[in-house]
Amino acid sequence: MNPLLPRSVPPAGMHIPLKDILGSLRECLLARDGAKSFQDAVQRAFGVRHAFLYSSGKAALSVALQALGSLAPERDEVLIPAFTSYSVPSAVVNAGFKVSLYDLDAKTLAPDLASLERAVTGKTLCAVACHLFGIPCDMEAFRAVCRAHGVPVLDDAAQAMGASRKGGLAGTMGDIGLFSLGRGKAITCVSGGVLATDDDRLAQAISAVAVPEATRMDDLRACAVALAMNVLLRPRLYWIPQSLPFMGLGKSQFDPNFPVLGLGSFQAALGRRMLAGLDESNSRRRDQARAMLSRLGDMQDELAVPVPGDCSPVYPRLPLLAGDGHADRLGGHGVSRSYPDSLDRLEPLRGHLASASDCPGARRLAAELVTVPTHSYLTGEDMDAIASGLAGGQGRRPA
Ligand SMILES: Cc1ncc(COP(=O)(O)O)c(C=O)c1O
Repeated sequence: MNPLLPRSVPPAGMHIPLKDILGSLRECLLARDGAKSFQDAVQRAFGVRHAFLYSSGKAALSVALQALGSLAPERDEVLIPAFTSYSVPSAVVNAGFKVSLYDLDAKTLAPDLASLERAVTGKTLCAVACHLFGIPCDMEAFRAVCRAHGVPVLDDAAQAMGASRKGGLAGTMGDIGLFSLGRGKAITCVSGGVLATDDDRLAQAISAVAVPEATRMDDLRACAVALAMNVLLRPRLYWIPQSLPFMGLGKSQFDPNFPVLGLGSFQAALGRRMLAGLDESNSRRRDQARAMLSRLGDMQDELAVPVPGDCSPVYPRLPLLAGDGHADRLGGHGVSRSYPDSLDRLEPLRGHLASASDCPGARRLAAELVTVPTHSYLTGEDMDAIASGLAGGQGRRPA
């Protein structure tokens, strides 16, 4: 590799092996039923009775909410954390509902249950719990609050496929579970979303939401992106996609107008292959996270998000409460800002909020949280540079 090429570590992502891309393409061209075998594999891996596949996590979330809405037409508010991916409110608005917000704890990322309780109304259709950065929430406590008000729970494990808490797998601890197969997630097939449920009535309502199928063109486009990811995520080549503004890399956008399609057969075949490697990939990411944390020494207590003993996280990225100023200085090593603002302050969302809410924990997280990659392209030297950069300070915003 040419040492003169600029080196820049992608903030997230994973290597998709060429053999998996070509095997999936072959399967798709031979018209095997990729969706059915991926569905079966998800059902087996997560021990759920029903699984459904869509073109993205936000498409899957929109379908889940439409299904819940068909069973409770008088309810039109969806409760979500005030600090999460902008895809979550985008999906709520796409499905035709209003957004209400609950706060998070600014150190642990856990739902603030008092704030959740305050935000529930007679119009609440469901409450979404997000296991941010692969650290599972205490779903027993979350469900207890929701159950008291007859509100169903959507277990959003978009970032936490394979994580568990108290022996329960993330994505299987609510009425409906959600996984994302997007580019920065535990495993990816370029893009994709999965719904999982044990509830036959909900499964029937989900099947009743009409969703167009992906076309052969979608298959070929996804295959081209998978090939590009195989090559361009390498740190010596990452400057290429980074310098193409239309790629929108690393941009968090609130945009409720997105396609809701079934998952194409190329992506389903690729998803099944990647799922077979989920445990191994998660365990490598955990090792990377541990190696990074051990380099932080005394700073660990201040910067790391504490993980309760009953949790087994997965870390698609490692979150650190370091102050977003570090993202610019350490961006070449893949350190990145998280979501640019909390949802209570996101201007384009204002007209879609069920009521005004004050979420200081979420605001603090938006100012302080940066992420470090856990993929295989992050080297020990990158980790050393990040640790010494963080020790150099200048990243924390004034409180
Ligand atoms: C918590 C959460 N939910 C849902 C989604 C939507 O997933 P996708 O990116 O596949 O649309 C994301 C994506 O980042 C997410 O982080």
